[in-house]
Amino acid sequence: MTGPLVLGIETSCDETGAGIVRGRELLANEIASSVAEHARFGGVVPEVASRAHLEAMVPAVDRAMERAGIKPGDIDAVAVTAGPGLAGALLVGVAAAKAYAYALGKPLYGVNHLAAHIAVDQLEHGPLPEPGIALLVSGGHSSLLLVPDVTGDVQPLGATIDDAAGEAYDKVARVLGMPFPGGPPIDRAAAEGDAGAIRFPRGKYHDGTLDFSFAGLKTAVARWVEARQDAGEPVPTKDVAASFQEAVADVLTRKAVQACQRNGVTDLLIGGGVAANSRLRSMAAERCASAGIRLRIPRPGLCTDNGAMVAALGAQIVSRGLPPSPLGLPADSSLPVTDVVVR
Ligand code: KG4
Ligand code: ZN
Repeated sequence: MTGPLVLGIETSCDETGAGIVRGRELLANEIASSVAEHARFGGVVPEVASRAHLEAMVPAVDRAMERAGIKPGDIDAVAVTAGPGLAGALLVGVAAAKAYAYALGKPLYGVNHLAAHIAVDQLEHGPLPEPGIALLVSGGHSSLLLVPDVTGDVQPLGATIDDAAGEAYDKVARVLGMPFPGGPPIDRAAAEGDAGAIRFPRGKYHDGTLDFSFAGLKTAVARWVEARQDAGEPVPTKDVAASFQEAVADVLTRKAVQACQRNGVTDLLIGGGVAANSRLRSMAAERCASAGIRLRIPRPGLCTDNGAMVAALGAQIVSRGLPPSPLGLPADSSLPVTDVVVR
């Protein structure tokens, strides 16, 4: 396969990612995670994440080049997540990307983290449908997007008004005495529980918008568990996990299908760390099939934050001949989703 050879750098949260892509071909995807260092705090500590990025950055890029079997001079462009994300964490990746681009004399592209979560699917399932609807669900974001063109036209349709879906998983896991990050242990416990055991609230279910709300659900789970504990009764952890997971998957898939129908779009893409969730995947498959919508979900290793997603978006931007970012490119912790490339 041919196409531009792009180094992608990702440091928006707790994963230091260095990926290398040629066109739509994945050559390397090296990830160093500081998640274990945050576990005892029950959430990502920004300063700890920034320091971990500093230590992991250059070794991750070196490993990626070795894995891809390329030399630094072979690279056509450098792409980096410019935002949104944790300010200090983003800064490390942006500074590193500038240094590589300047030293190699290659163009630099500061790109949007959310667009990269969408673009990554091309590495697995080929060219993106244009237009498509994207549901992005992670620890930091939960949004529905209309995507006519991932390199330049991404339109917000709805987003969470409080907690992100992954954040709700992490907080509920804490209530249930499970480790951080909470998604995987809840997913595993839910597999052995009864999803119909408890009817937890589904925020904004009937409000007609494409926005989400998970704070009420999280609080409802906490109150339910506390009531059990106060009464001296055992907490049926697996049933609580399954019932909570059912509520999250129900709202996410309902609104994603509505977003497709309202915009006359027949392709849905789900990305972000929560896209690894087994119930979200199965419910999305069922509901898309009955609504005549084609569903694309990257494999879990490409759903969570990584450098290959940034490289994949960068390669497509380069292929379309779009101009690069200035070397004075800032990191922008609240970069709007409509800004795919920072100018
Ligand atoms: O995209 P990601 O790696 O990082 C950002 O937050 O940007 O997503 C991490 C989130 C965490 O909240 C984690 O609990 C959640 O994704 N997650 C899951 C699963 N695996 C990871 N949530 C539900 N089910 C899973 N299997
Ligand atoms: Zn992410």
